[in-house]
Amino acid sequence: MTDKLIIFDTTLRDGEQSPGASMTRDEKLRIARQLERLKVDVIEAGFPASSVGDFECVQAIARAIKDATVCGLSRANDRDISRAAEALKDAANARIHTFIATSALHMEKKLRMTPDQVFEQAKQSVRFARNLVADVEFSPEDGYRSDVDFLCRVIEAVINEGATTINVPDTVGYAIPELYGNFIKTLRERVPNSDKAIWSVHCHNDLGMAVANSLAGVKIGGARQVECTINGLGERAGNCSLEEVVMAVKTRRDYFGLDIGIDTKHILATSRMVSQTTGFVVQPNKAVVGANAFAHASGIHQDGVLKARDTYEIMRAEDVGWSHNKIVLGKLSGRNAFKQRLLDLGVSMESESDINAAFARFKELADRKSEIFDEDILALVSDESVAHDNEQYGFVSLSQHSETGERPQASVVFTVNGKEVKGESDGNGPVDASLKAIEMHVQSGAEMVLYSVNAISGSTESQGEVTVRLQNSGRVVNGTGSDPDIVVASAKAYLSALNKLQSKADRVSAQG
Ligand code: KIV
Ligand code: ZN
Repeated sequence: MTDKLIIFDTTLRDGEQSPGASMTRDEKLRIARQLERLKVDVIEAGFPASSVGDFECVQAIARAIKDATVCGLSRANDRDISRAAEALKDAANARIHTFIATSALHMEKKLRMTPDQVFEQAKQSVRFARNLVADVEFSPEDGYRSDVDFLCRVIEAVINEGATTINVPDTVGYAIPELYGNFIKTLRERVPNSDKAIWSVHCHNDLGMAVANSLAGVKIGGARQVECTINGLGERAGNCSLEEVVMAVKTRRDYFGLDIGIDTKHILATSRMVSQTTGFVVQPNKAVVGANAFAHASGIHQDGVLKARDTYEIMRAEDVGWSHNKIVLGKLSGRNAFKQRLLDLGVSMESESDINAAFARFKELADRKSEIFDEDILALVSDESVAHDNEQYGFVSLSQHSETGERPQASVVFTVNGKEVKGESDGNGPVDASLKAIEMHVQSGAEMVLYSVNAISGSTESQGEVTVRLQNSGRVVNGTGSDPDIVVASAKAYLSALNKLQSKADRVSAQG
């Protein structure tokens, strides 16, 4: 048994299944590069057979990433597996992850297949995948709620067919740490060829125990791979959070006795990149990456930390990247310094014109804000309101008037397919008036299901980062926008959400 814990990140696949978290190819590529910098062992880049867009994302990531294994998900059928192999063809290290449900409930109600049919299909697909790549992971979906005898039979068979990793998902977040840990242990003890594969845990957070369950799977069950996402992003209550599981194993090495390859000082930047890209804001009291994770408000705690830091701190803030939160650039910074900072932050822009456009926005921001932090730069480059070639709407300018006792008025200029238009409206507040001004013109009919504002770097001088979640005809999208003026940030976020609603994103869901 190895004493290394493999970190398998599925932010770009399972994380992206959160409503509204879908990302563009460039956004996924940027996050994949950041995950490589973080030194995750495996990046699950997507589900190539689910859509042409996802196929292209996996292909682009497979071509760009050299240090991590790039993995593509596929259902247990030849077509999906071939698509995954095709998308991964240029990867330095490729893995196909194939899955089929094994619980009685899923087999009967969802797949409408008998256990024997599922058994045969699992075996056949692993055999098929092993002919295409050497590294094949198999997951019995809803594994934790599956009959243990049947599961042992399936797992033994797929290991015989060459599966190199066996992942046991708690697909619906039903497990309890001790029970899940013992479940993995039982499987490993009962499957005769269990030592021929690496065992992996994949826990959802419906009862808030995804991290605890994963850790129990490692400690009690002997799993040596954890599947997780940045910020715990994922459908419903999310997945096991990478930063929490990594810091738990590192901080309590005395207990787990395992090594992890993660370069933890990149954790915070990665968390921020994912939250800014997806619009899923990190709660302030979130472990490791929340704004308050290392803040000591009470006098007793502050006094203790000043006398001896370990009185109240079990991890060092700088070890997970907090000290990197420094002023990096200002008004006088040149294009080269800006370009270098982008590279340091893991943002690689393909064309000189993209760099020039981002630099122009940086200069504009530096004129209005004296201190530019890393977070500002990340927000600036992920600003989706800037009209890209294939996008319908782009922000141009906004003016609004609000005064105590008067109904606010707003006028917004924006582009529709490159042509400038102007919308005007009143509203309950300046934000309401501005979004109504846009909607009056666009007539999207979308329902707003979430609106949130977050100060990017703490003070009132900070940029406001706004997330708008829109729902229309069964689709949910998140748009984000940032600006020192929160009304402008709101208009940008609204336009970015409208752009996402326009883009066709028909895809097959992994749990579908
Ligand atoms: O939760 C789950 O079961 C999954 C599988 C597709 C591995 O994400
Ligand atoms: Zn999952």
